[in-house]
Amino acid sequence: MTDLRSRLGEAVSAAFEEAGLDPKWARVTVSDRPDLADFQCNGALIAAKARKASGSDIAADIAERLRANPCVAAVDVAGPGFINLRVSESALGGRANALAGDERAGARKIVQPRKVLIDYAGPNVAKEMHVGHLRASIIGEAVKRIYRFAGDEVLGDAHFGDWGFQMGLLIVACADADPAIASLLEDLVAEPPGFTAADEQAIDADLSARIALDDLDRLYPAAAAKAKADDDYRERARRATAELQAGRFGHRLIWRHFAQVTRAALERDFHALGVDFDLWRGESDVDPLIEPMVAELREKKLLIEDQGAQIVRVARSDDRREIPPLLVVSSEGSAMYGTTDLATILDRQRFFNPDLVLYVVDQRQADHFEIVFRAAYLAGYAKPGALEHVGFGTMNGADGKPFKTREGGVLKLRDLIDMAREKAAMRLQEAGLGVELSPEEFESTALAVAVAALKFADLINFRGTSYVFDLDRFSSFEGKTGPYLLYQAVRMKSLLRKAAAERVTAGRIAVREPAERDLVLLLDAFDHALGEAYDKRAPNLVADHAFRLAQSFARFYAACPVLAAPDEATRASRLGLAALTLKQLELALGLLGITTPERM
Ligand code: ARG
Repeated sequence: MTDLRSRLGEAVSAAFEEAGLDPKWARVTVSDRPDLADFQCNGALIAAKARKASGSDIAADIAERLRANPCVAAVDVAGPGFINLRVSESALGGRANALAGDERAGARKIVQPRKVLIDYAGPNVAKEMHVGHLRASIIGEAVKRIYRFAGDEVLGDAHFGDWGFQMGLLIVACADADPAIASLLEDLVAEPPGFTAADEQAIDADLSARIALDDLDRLYPAAAAKAKADDDYRERARRATAELQAGRFGHRLIWRHFAQVTRAALERDFHALGVDFDLWRGESDVDPLIEPMVAELREKKLLIEDQGAQIVRVARSDDRREIPPLLVVSSEGSAMYGTTDLATILDRQRFFNPDLVLYVVDQRQADHFEIVFRAAYLAGYAKPGALEHVGFGTMNGADGKPFKTREGGVLKLRDLIDMAREKAAMRLQEAGLGVELSPEEFESTALAVAVAALKFADLINFRGTSYVFDLDRFSSFEGKTGPYLLYQAVRMKSLLRKAAAERVTAGRIAVREPAERDLVLLLDAFDHALGEAYDKRAPNLVADHAFRLAQSFARFYAACPVLAAPDEATRASRLGLAALTLKQLELALGLLGITTPERM
């Protein structure tokens, strides 16, 4: 199952070799003049420079050697030595039929699968999700699916922020809001003798009745603001955090309740967005590792004392900028964000031993990861080169700053999804779509359109680029949008349904019309696009492929009648092409975390 581009690449390499030229020059790329050629090779120009010979002479010689190749319909030389290649109809047809018979629609698996862990989303207890978390979820999910589809053994971990100062803040806020909670925290220093599972359940039930998600959402911002202004309050929260981390029983119970409530809500909202994690390891899970880890770092002579704090120096003599040390234990004696990340690396090494860990996290944390990774390599907690930060830019508001709601707050995931779903429902109605759907199916279709709008708008940009949130534009059925893609996919599905009703079946694909050629050339390029997306951790290349495929299908569908084709063989061929396009488009959208509805 090789793509035409690689096959032509091999043929051109062989021709270079026969001509006594270095085959490494024989790179074949998609033509930048599709009106003239399908593929091109600029290698004759490079060879001419190296040989001090004429580029057009070399190109003419290579072209002559390629003429007999059955894959090649035409080969000519343009300008100073560009070799232009046109693929033969038979090669295109052969490739299309091979793709039609392949459940992966041409996507090859990687030769050496690895163990890959993707650290993405990183939501926190109580602290609201902001746009950084949203982008991390969308991009991380796509990267995870692309890696898994390529054949790697992949785990996606939410790396739940369930530890640290915010927990102390919440404990204090809940105690102040409810005397019953205050006395529970006061009384339950350690596990009481004879404490049973039933006792624990009773406490859990009581906590559930007293503290719901809304309460956390309300109490946390107020507590965070108060701690900024009020030293005593901050000190109480700090102490509560320390007591929780020291294992005080009541504190542990209430903390577990916070984490459960938040996680259940997050999982539900993430799932609506088509984001599902394999692991919800919390920052708390690695807490027990920290003490022995610190001791080990000291033993390895990596940990040094600096103004009362414990640090690991990670700067190298060839650094071109100053790299600060990793702060492991603060002068107050607490473990830091980086400490948790280092312990998490150690933990992952023990339970999974990954070949690669991809951290899909906001670009603004680049320095943090550089420092943590260096420390991890020094300590031997990760295979050399196995840790990689996959950063991304921000989603901005119209003012060019990270997106905020009209009230100036961060947008909750739930609200964002609701907003996008309402907009999608409106758009469907405006477009006269969805009229035949039952109310339930209309709702689920609107959700699918909303998710496609949000995700595609994000993923079509290279992740490093920032973009402006514009729900109106994202939700349009026209332009480079998720809804446009879904609309094209749904058209394909309805065509296939209609064909089935008329008992027309797909058959051997033959490629004749220009629109058929273009479509097959694009279908052929799927494997290459996936390979690049994999290597560069760049889902936008899959998004771009999906968009071009949908566009190419629309042109094909306009130019080449399918069910009304002139003869049976053409009808069967075009139907086969439509079915193949749908298969590949759905695969590509699936890799982006976008599901296609059956109808609209
Ligand atoms: N919870 C963190 C935050 O909200 C993001 C975690 C990113 N992942 C990591 N391994 N540090 O900023």
